[in-house]
Amino acid sequence: MTKDLPYAGRRPEDLAPDELAELLQFHDAAYFEDGRPVISDAQYDALVALLRARAPDHPQLQRVGAAPAVAHAGDKVVHERPMLSLDKCNEFSGFWSWLRGICADVLGRPNNPKSLPDEEVRSWAASAPEARLVATPKIDGLACSLRYGADGRLLLAATRGDGRIGEDVTANGRRVQGVPSVLRGHSGAEVEVRGEVYLSLSAFAAVADSYANPRNLAAGTLKAKDNPAIPPEQLAFYCYDLIGVPAGSEVEKLGQARLLGFEPVPFVELTADQAQKVFAEQDAGKQQWDFEADGLVLRLNELGLVQRLGATAHHPRGAIAWKFAVDAGTTTLVEVEWSVARTGIITPVAIVAPVLLSGATVTRATLHNVSTLRRHGLRKGDQVELVRRGGVIPHVERVLLPSDQPQELPPSACPSCGSATALAERLDDKTGESVAVLYCTKPDQCTAAKSRQLLHFCQTLELEGFGDKVLELLTERGLVSDAADLFTLQAGDLQTLPRFGETMVANLLAQVQKARRVPLAGFLTALGIPSLGKQTAQLLAGRGDLAAIRAMTVQEIAKFHSLGDKTAETIATGLVERKEFIDRLLAHLAITAEERHSQDGPLAGQVVLFTGALVVMKRSDAQKWVVAHGGLTGDTVTAETTLLVVGGDELEAAVPSSKLKKALKLRDQGRPIEILSEAEFFARYGAT
Ligand code: IVH
Repeated sequence: MTKDLPYAGRRPEDLAPDELAELLQFHDAAYFEDGRPVISDAQYDALVALLRARAPDHPQLQRVGAAPAVAHAGDKVVHERPMLSLDKCNEFSGFWSWLRGICADVLGRPNNPKSLPDEEVRSWAASAPEARLVATPKIDGLACSLRYGADGRLLLAATRGDGRIGEDVTANGRRVQGVPSVLRGHSGAEVEVRGEVYLSLSAFAAVADSYANPRNLAAGTLKAKDNPAIPPEQLAFYCYDLIGVPAGSEVEKLGQARLLGFEPVPFVELTADQAQKVFAEQDAGKQQWDFEADGLVLRLNELGLVQRLGATAHHPRGAIAWKFAVDAGTTTLVEVEWSVARTGIITPVAIVAPVLLSGATVTRATLHNVSTLRRHGLRKGDQVELVRRGGVIPHVERVLLPSDQPQELPPSACPSCGSATALAERLDDKTGESVAVLYCTKPDQCTAAKSRQLLHFCQTLELEGFGDKVLELLTERGLVSDAADLFTLQAGDLQTLPRFGETMVANLLAQVQKARRVPLAGFLTALGIPSLGKQTAQLLAGRGDLAAIRAMTVQEIAKFHSLGDKTAETIATGLVERKEFIDRLLAHLAITAEERHSQDGPLAGQVVLFTGALVVMKRSDAQKWVVAHGGLTGDTVTAETTLLVVGGDELEAAVPSSKLKKALKLRDQGRPIEILSEAEFFARYGAT
């Protein structure tokens, strides 16, 4: 900036309109051209207000208020109409007092809404045409304004910023799903479209270990100058407002948005007296939503009334956001506990000071793996935010206030057996992403790993009654050290245990009796060998008998159904390490003949997985169909999967499902996975 501040020594109140205009021009240049404003937004607004009071028709005001369709310089964009916020409430009472205010206005008693009896408001809410509302989820993303020119082309995408001035994000914005580059069948007028850019929870799931929450990732991605963290195509846009398109009601407006090529934010129409019921229903059903939402936005449907009610400097009067009770809480990290799984993998768990989360006291939260621990850089005494997102297990969302303690690190010795630990990179089953995991290097000598193994054995063979607590007790008393010991349990041993009544003992022994005959695939799975899950066990069982499987070399296993060297090595090692255990088990149980599935159908040798919505038949029938035609199937994409069948239009979708993502990744790694659409699959293998 070369120019000096004009009229530096004088008070704005003393300036003539033209002098004020010159001052405003100076500040515009400082803001837009130099990116170095010298006054605050509030001071700027005060200058504009002063000029408006002095000379309402001054051309400078035209320049500010009705700036050209796209007023922006550098990264900054002026919103022709400010992007306001929403009035908020947390309870029904807040919603009711908002509604009472509207009712009083409509009934011509705006000055004393409190004098309106509840009954009068209620009957108005149930029947007045003005009391019709539209409810939409309050999406937890970032507000975005899209401007389209008279030719229907996208000119600009901008963030909300401070409501008056946002940031130009056109380059990434035009790549967001649901942002058309050209409007469909529009009338030739300039149009501004407002809505929320968000990252769906399903897309977020794939990267959840590396980012705090979908909103921050969406914001970072949209605003990124280069190398966005994820492709902007994974973001999506829900439209909630149109400016420049005539409409009489909110519902009509959302319909117009659809016609122009936008996805309107999901909405429900209601009368105001139904709001409480609708709120409760939406709150209860929100787990099904594939986006984060922190409440409902309730807007008056009639736009004439909305217009008449106007806005405060902060929010329009015709709408209110009613927030859901949060599933989040703030607490203190007491310590990080390391929990040993049956495979020897050691998972960090956050032990926190008790905190109430959705009505339950929580003292533990999952940290998933070492990558998550590192990302948060946790320290004892940290103030942390716990969130229960979509599921039942709370997790640490973020550190609010770090303590000055040293950072928690993965232990070098197993907390259960003291053996050395080691770190490994592993593909996360759910997300297909690579994460760092800690494991005990001697799981076969580790008490914790062994007791979890025992639980796995009982769960796989469906031994009812042998849960966590019972097994813990049996282990503690030295009655059982591994699954083979279950078969030597006597009624006398069990009856001495606290609360083990006669019936319970009889039931437990009957369950053990049941496990004396097991199918080969179940037996193999129950061994708890890493990489030998249900699907692989099914495959190997097709090989014949246990002796034959135990005799297989690593190379033979690797070649079998292209299991691959790494899996084969783990399985072979697992079988050898458990030699004595297997022999002891075989002394107590018999392996029954495998239910052989047809091995000569068109799908013989194939392991087929399904993802997405199927049209030809429902998924469970499709899985039965695969087995009936000689193939194998399952629910998780693994290295053994040979074919992924993708239903719906997922193949074209910008956001692949986690199954598709994992299959693509495995294929990139050289696995022979074929990916077919449902139509291609059934056409090739001949279902009718
Ligand atoms: S209506 C005055 N509908 O919430 C703006 N807003 O606190 C009224 N938001 O920045 C917009 N979901 O971006 C509306 N279904 C929804 C919304 C929604 C999220 C955001 C909006 C605004 C913020 C206001």
